[in-house]
Amino acid sequence: MRIDVVTLFPDFVRQCAAVGVVGRAQQRKLLQVEAWNPRDYTADRHRTVDSSSYGGGPGMVMLIEPLRKTLEVVRDAAPDPAHVIYLSPQGARLTQGRVEALAKLPRIALLCGRYEGVDERLLAHEVDEELSIGDYVLSGGELAAAVIIDAVGRLQDGALNDAQSAEQDSFSDGLLDCPHYAKPVHDALGSVPEVLLSGDHAAIARWRHKQSLGRTWLRRPELLAQRALDAESRALLDEFRREYVTARN
Ligand code: ADE
Repeated sequence: MRIDVVTLFPDFVRQCAAVGVVGRAQQRKLLQVEAWNPRDYTADRHRTVDSSSYGGGPGMVMLIEPLRKTLEVVRDAAPDPAHVIYLSPQGARLTQGRVEALAKLPRIALLCGRYEGVDERLLAHEVDEELSIGDYVLSGGELAAAVIIDAVGRLQDGALNDAQSAEQDSFSDGLLDCPHYAKPVHDALGSVPEVLLSGDHAAIARWRHKQSLGRTWLRRPELLAQRALDAESRALLDEFRREYVTARN
């Protein structure tokens, strides 16, 4: 997969994409991340990329022309068509489901705004989708782009060392992840739940699923409301609730 990022801070994006799982995915040629600076596609001496907003008010707006030219160069840089995403707080909220769909595309381009945003006409004509990473305002789209690169990059086939770990992620089945433990078995902070030491794989899977359901119920109940539980999951969640209430009394 190829990801092109249009940004006034290309070094930041390149550095984010050079470390950890994403960096390794790039080394393994599973992912290619390229960053492009619209200042390189300006025609004036000052390399101007922004201007004041018509109608007045504080803040600058990113100009059409440098971005249009940059996107033209980006589109021409590889044969696959690029699905262009603009990062902004006005976008649809990014979800793991959306990440999984984006990870299957051969190519996406991420447009990072700065200042008050980007001229609406450029967005209307050049952008396929607008995404937000949450209901808060960042000073630019770069961190959001880094989030998407990471979330999408780790899903590329062969990017994770243990292929199972993506399947067990939080949200991959609409639930939060279960708790995890490593050595020592006994510690001043507590002991590892006995079932995890039993070697009984079915019992372990059942316990983990119960913990996932229970945590989702406790921390993100709206996720449970959005999804129909089968009879077994309902029984497990009831069991979790009973144990939870007993432990609190
Ligand atoms: N740019 C500024 N804030 C943002 C957000 N919350 N999500 C995506 N892009 C942004």
